[in-house]
Amino acid sequence: MLEKIKKIKENFLEEIKKTTQEKELVDLRVKYLGKKSEFNQLLKNLKNLSPEEKREIGPFANEVKKEIYTKIEAGITKIEDAENTEKEWIDVTAPGKKIRQGHLHPLSIVQRDIEDIFTTMGFEIADGPEVDSEYYNFDAINIPADHPARDMQDTFWISKEADRKKGEGIVLRTQTSNVQVQYMQKHKPPFRVIAPGRVFRSEATDASHEHTFHQFEALVVGDNVSVANFLYIAETFFSKFFGKKLKIRLRPSYFPFVEPGFEFDISCTNCGGKGCSTCSQTGWIEVGGAGMVHQNVFETAGYERGKYQGFAWGFGLERLAMMKYKINDIRLFHSGDVRFTKQF
Ligand code: PHE
Repeated sequence: MLEKIKKIKENFLEEIKKTTQEKELVDLRVKYLGKKSEFNQLLKNLKNLSPEEKREIGPFANEVKKEIYTKIEAGITKIEDAENTEKEWIDVTAPGKKIRQGHLHPLSIVQRDIEDIFTTMGFEIADGPEVDSEYYNFDAINIPADHPARDMQDTFWISKEADRKKGEGIVLRTQTSNVQVQYMQKHKPPFRVIAPGRVFRSEATDASHEHTFHQFEALVVGDNVSVANFLYIAETFFSKFFGKKLKIRLRPSYFPFVEPGFEFDISCTNCGGKGCSTCSQTGWIEVGGAGMVHQNVFETAGYERGKYQGFAWGFGLERLAMMKYKINDIRLFHSGDVRFTKQF
């Protein structure tokens, strides 16, 4: 019997050498260790042997069994490993995938630039609510309910008609000027402040109009603040922002919260004032509204009438960004189109 087992082992060792496929190994396992295998049949006879023979052959048979088993398992693992390695093969010389980095939206870039310039000129930055009372957005800055100027800005009303009738309406602010009185109620002059933020108007949109856009309000109040101060600060600001010396031009205009009021232009950033298509051959580009703060507004804020003087101005952020980066459609800013934003 011992001889037979040895022979089985020899045969097995011969056969396993020739295997290359997992399937062959599995078959081999059946052939040598399966229920119907020669080996198994042999082992069944073990019980008929004498105790001495059992003691000799038993452990040997077990050892052979174990050896066959381990060799087959090892063979299978080796083949599987080889297959996996092939599958998981990594080409370390292949060029890497480009990881795209997040970045600021063009409006954020411009807003930060503007804030930087103003803070270096000693301005503070104030914040105001986007959803506000009609009182701060209109009444407090000298635009009472029956004032025709209310119609200049088509308003998104949040509150019910009944509250509007009582003068207690809630609006999406139509201008950053809503910050003026709220800020002045909490601060005493002299101060220099800017209030950047989102504003809303119920308007039809086109390449130069959006229902949601950004403004910058600037407010400077003190004992002796004049239009000349405004001119100087505006000129310094716009020259820094566009990186070239620009001139400011004032044109008389009307805003209820300033007196006198003006619209102001900067010399064309493209042609420098000679006249080109950007400025419709005028040499000037309109940027915003400004004026000396109306004493009514000071009074509403709780300041003594006639005690202070100050100027206020407001301009659109998108407008400046469009000029700086030569963007021709304001709707691109909120389009969410990455083909646009990724250029910045
Ligand atoms: N709030 C005005 C507007 O949105 C602009 C403005 C601000 C005008 C401050 C004068 C002074 O049209």
